[in-house]
Amino acid sequence: MTFSRLSPANLLMRCSTDFLTRMSIISFSHVAKQYAGSISALSDVSMEIAEGELVYLAGPSGAGKSTLLKLIAGIERPSAGLLLVSGQDMRKLNRTTLPYWRRMLGLILQQHRLLNDRSVLQNVMLPLLVSGASVKEATQRARVALDRVDLGNKADLAPQALSGGEQQRVSIARAIVHKPRIILADEPTANLDRDSGRRVMDMLHAFHTAGVTCIIATHDERLLQNADRVVQLERGRVIAMHDAASEVGA
Ligand SMILES: Nc1ncnc2c1ncn2[C@@H]1O[C@H](COP(=O)(O)OP(=O)(O)OP(=O)(O)O)[C@@H](O)[C@H]1O
Ligand SMILES: [Mg+2]
Repeated sequence: MTFSRLSPANLLMRCSTDFLTRMSIISFSHVAKQYAGSISALSDVSMEIAEGELVYLAGPSGAGKSTLLKLIAGIERPSAGLLLVSGQDMRKLNRTTLPYWRRMLGLILQQHRLLNDRSVLQNVMLPLLVSGASVKEATQRARVALDRVDLGNKADLAPQALSGGEQQRVSIARAIVHKPRIILADEPTANLDRDSGRRVMDMLHAFHTAGVTCIIATHDERLLQNADRVVQLERGRVIAMHDAASEVGA
């Protein structure tokens, strides 16, 4: 695949064109992230992501992919610039508003952090219980989510009793059980064999087809071959974008 090299001016022009033509759900304007004592993890990131888009984040280790996802998730805050997610200024999100706001997100992180002292079903029920659903409703919806990832028959097992690929599918069920508007996935196929990885990606694509905005960070070149939109990061900067719908000149 070829990437279009973009100057910052080009990038901004492209962003404003997108903004005029499509509703954006995520908007980065000159966003930077500096961790304490570290070099800049992200610098001057400006881009728009439209509602319902499927966007891949690519780039070498340390490029800033996970940081970018964490900013969208409200796990980290921008050090500079403006980041709007569904109209919310992410620098202004506070402890009270964060849990409510996060309900529209489905997070699939690099480590899936399933609780081993609870069953698969209970792990998937957790986001619903935390947001106030009854046990009956949470149980029903968690079973539906587990069926969607083909794990209905393993609901009562502990996560350790499942393979790595199955555990990753549990984390997908947990991420989608509350019907999020945005799914953020960080290396969802890492450590999976080819078939399990393909299955996980098919599921993410199915959510995208159903209208959910999906942002997926990956090292996996195979996934990028057929991607509609790829944002290429390097040392914290967006250095290129590939967009199958509208190729951008350098
Ligand atoms: N909590 C943190 N504290 C300090 N520096 C951090 C922290 N998290 C990330 N960094 C630094 O920020 C930069 C970007 O890291 P990030 O995890 O976003 O990269 P990445 O593209 O996801 O890499 P990988 O492909 O290895 O997952 C790196 O230089 C990293 O060392
Ligand atoms: Mg990462």
